[in-house]
Amino acid sequence: MKKVTKAVFPAAGMGTRFLPATKANPKEMLPIVDKPLIQYAAEEAVAAGITDLIFIIGRTKRAIADHFDKAYELEVELETRGKLKALQDLRDMLPSHVNCIYIRQAEALGLGHAVQCAQSAVNDEPFVVILADDLIDAEPGVVKQMCDVYDYYQCSVVGVQEVAPEETASYGIVACDPMAERISRVTRIVEKPKPADAPSNLGVVGRYVLTPRIFDHLKRIERGAGGELQLTDAIQSMLQEQQVLAYAYQGTRYDCGSKVGYLEATVEYAMKHPEVAEEFTAYLKNRFCGPCDRP
Ligand code: G1P
Repeated sequence: MKKVTKAVFPAAGMGTRFLPATKANPKEMLPIVDKPLIQYAAEEAVAAGITDLIFIIGRTKRAIADHFDKAYELEVELETRGKLKALQDLRDMLPSHVNCIYIRQAEALGLGHAVQCAQSAVNDEPFVVILADDLIDAEPGVVKQMCDVYDYYQCSVVGVQEVAPEETASYGIVACDPMAERISRVTRIVEKPKPADAPSNLGVVGRYVLTPRIFDHLKRIERGAGGELQLTDAIQSMLQEQQVLAYAYQGTRYDCGSKVGYLEATVEYAMKHPEVAEEFTAYLKNRFCGPCDRP
């Protein structure tokens, strides 16, 4: 049985919702407290036993490669100044057995196209796709939960959650038949349907385990929702020949592709961050529950 050891991180989107912060910097480098989104995603993958991290990067995305490279001057500087904790944290960012691979997506043609760009690095193996702007607080992480489902059923798995009926046009939406606890068999998947056309209110979140057959289907699809090559359409096409499961993950998701979701994640992660939790929580209490002399 082939274990999942590769993860693909599409990170070549424009990040228009965070301009101007994302004009020269990828949205995946936006920090939640002190770690960029892409690092949370990488850590979730590594915790699930993934050893090859494949980043699909585009214009302005060099920061991602710089982030995971060894920073010699910085390490020397921290050592000289005796900042040994920071030095150790930097060195421990990724374990030494993990490889980072960077593939450039020359044109942003959509999520399906981004995944297709990973084919030469993935080859004939099952793999995970992680969208870093969906930050999911879970223990064990959602990639681990989904790799366990893959190990058992040996087929593709998409992470899902219920979304508000009026929000279906922001998600891939699945129709499915319940199979086991948290697990259903997908019968149809459609990208960003209007509420009236949505087959359910189960939305796909940015976590997928895919069999390599997806690459054949990615080659065949045409431009779909938003004029883009959609991963959802390739999954729908793959359904004709392979089972795909929907997995209702355990955890709390923050949509860090939206400003409000990003701010919610920042507050929640700050409130449990060992360095700032106490002071920040006290600030919030004082701000919202204390004697209120503020506007
Ligand atoms: C992408 C996928 C969509 C999925 C969503 C989850 O859309 O195309 O099917 O539901 O991620 O975040 P995006 O948010 O990139 O437009």
